Amino acid sequence: MRKRINLCFIGCGAFCKAFVPLFQKHPDVESVAVCDLIPERAADYSQKFDVPIIASFEEAIASDKIDAVAIFTQRHTHGPLVIAALKAGKNVYSAVPCASTIEEIYEIEELVRKTRLTYSMGETGYYRAPTVFCRNKMLAGEFGDFVYGEAQYNHDQRHFHYESNGPDWRKVAGIPPMLYPTHSTAMILGAMKGVYVKKVAAFGWVEEKLPDIFGTNGVNLWNNPFSNTAMLAQLSNGGVARISENRRVAFAGPNTYISQFYGSDACYEFSVAHHYFTHWDSKNTNKLLMDEVTKDLLPAGVYEKINDPDFPQRISDGAGFWDSAPVQNTARIPIEYRHEKNGHNGTHHFMVDDFCQAAATGMLSPTNIWTAARYNLPGLVAHKSAINGGQLMDVPDLGEPPADWPVMQLD
Ligand SMILES: NC(=O)c1ccc[n+]([C@@H]2O[C@H](COP(=O)([O-])OP(=O)(O)OC[C@H]3O[C@@H](n4cnc5c(N)ncnc54)[C@H](O)[C@@H]3O)[C@@H](O)[C@H]2O)c1
Repeated sequence: MRKRINLCFIGCGAFCKAFVPLFQKHPDVESVAVCDLIPERAADYSQKFDVPIIASFEEAIASDKIDAVAIFTQRHTHGPLVIAALKAGKNVYSAVPCASTIEEIYEIEELVRKTRLTYSMGETGYYRAPTVFCRNKMLAGEFGDFVYGEAQYNHDQRHFHYESNGPDWRKVAGIPPMLYPTHSTAMILGAMKGVYVKKVAAFGWVEEKLPDIFGTNGVNLWNNPFSNTAMLAQLSNGGVARISENRRVAFAGPNTYISQFYGSDACYEFSVAHHYFTHWDSKNTNKLLMDEVTKDLLPAGVYEKINDPDFPQRISDGAGFWDSAPVQNTARIPIEYRHEKNGHNGTHHFMVDDFCQAAATGMLSPTNIWTAARYNLPGLVAHKSAINGGQLMDVPDLGEPPADWPVMQLD
C-alpha cells in the first residue's frame, strides 16, 4: 500500500528552492514544511511557497507529523544530519554528497539496513543524458567489455554560495574536491550494473594563488592544499576510470560530463557539444563506424541551433541546463511535473520522483545508500591518496542492497 509523505526541507539556501515545488506537486506527497538555521531564509521560503516553518532540524525530526526530511544544508554537513534523521525514524532525501567521512557512510548504511527507511541521494550524474545513453548501450551489450572511462566535474569555486557560512566562509570554501566526487563517479559507475571502485591513486594540484582558502596551515577545516584533484581508479570489472574534481579551472559548461567511455566493441566520446558513438561495422569486421548521436543527448530546442556560430558559447553559458534530452525517459515523470521547472540537464524531476516513489512504496531508489556509498567512498579515499603523494589505496565497498529489497527501475 502506498503511503503519502509529510516532508520537511532542512536548509532553505540557493539550491533547495528548485525542489520545493517539485515535492509539493508530487502525487505521493501529502505536506511540505521548511526549516533553516537562518530564520529569515525559512520565512522567505514560507512566503514564496506558502508552506509552514518548523523552527529547527531537531524539532522536525522529533515531530510525529513529519515522516521524511530533505537535507539541503552545506555539502560538508550531511552525514550527522542524515544519521540523526534515520535514528529518529525519518526517511531521508539528501542532496549530494552522502557524507564527508567513511565512518559516517558505514553508519548510514547500517541504519538503513536495520530500519528499512528510505535513503536516497539526489545525484544528478546518474540521470544525465550521457550516463543514460551509456547505461542503455551497456545493458544492451553493445559496448562489450568496459575498458576505460573518463569523467569530470569542473566547477570553479568562485561560483559556489558561501554566504550561509558567515565571515568564516573561507574555512569551508577550501573543502577538498574529492569530498564531493559523486557527480563524476556516478557518471561512470551509473552507466554499469554492480560495478564499484576497488583501488585508487590520486594526485592533487596544490593551489598557491588562493592561500586564504587552500593550504595546510589551518586556513580551511580540512587543512586541504588542493583546489583540483584527479584519481585513477581500478574497477571491480577490471576496467579503469579517470575521475577529476576541479574547483579552479577555466571551464564553465557543461560542468559534469563523460569525455570517454570505451568498451571492447563500442565507444562513446564527447567533445563540448557533440556526442559520438563508434562501433564495429557488422558487414566488415575490420571497419569501425562513427555515428554522431548528439540529437539524442541534447534537448531538442538546443540541438536545433547546433550550427549557429555562437553555439559553443551557448553551451558554455548553460544551454540545455533546464531541459531533458530525448534519451532520458521523461514519459515516466508524473504528469504534474509537465510544466514544472527542471534543472541540471533535466535531472531534478527524476531525482525527486525516485525518492518519493521509494518512500511511498518501500522499494529502493536507484541512488540508494549502497549506490551512494559506491559513488562517494572512492573520493574520500582518493583525497587521502593525494595527500600521501599518490599512494595506491584500497576502497571499501558496502556491497549490494539486501536481496529481499528490490530496486525500482523506472528509467
Ligand atoms: N548538482 C547538484 O546536485 C547540486 C547543485 C547545487 C547544490 N547542491 C547541494 O545542495 C546543498 C545546498 O547547497 P546550497 O548552495 O543551496 O547551500 P546554501 O549554503 O545556499 O544553503 C544551505 C542552507 O542550509 C542551512 N542550514 C545549515 N545547517 C542547517 C541545520 N542544521 N538546520 C537547518 N538549516 C541548516 C543554512 O543556513 C543555509 O541556508 C549542498 O549540499 C550542495 O552540495 C547540489
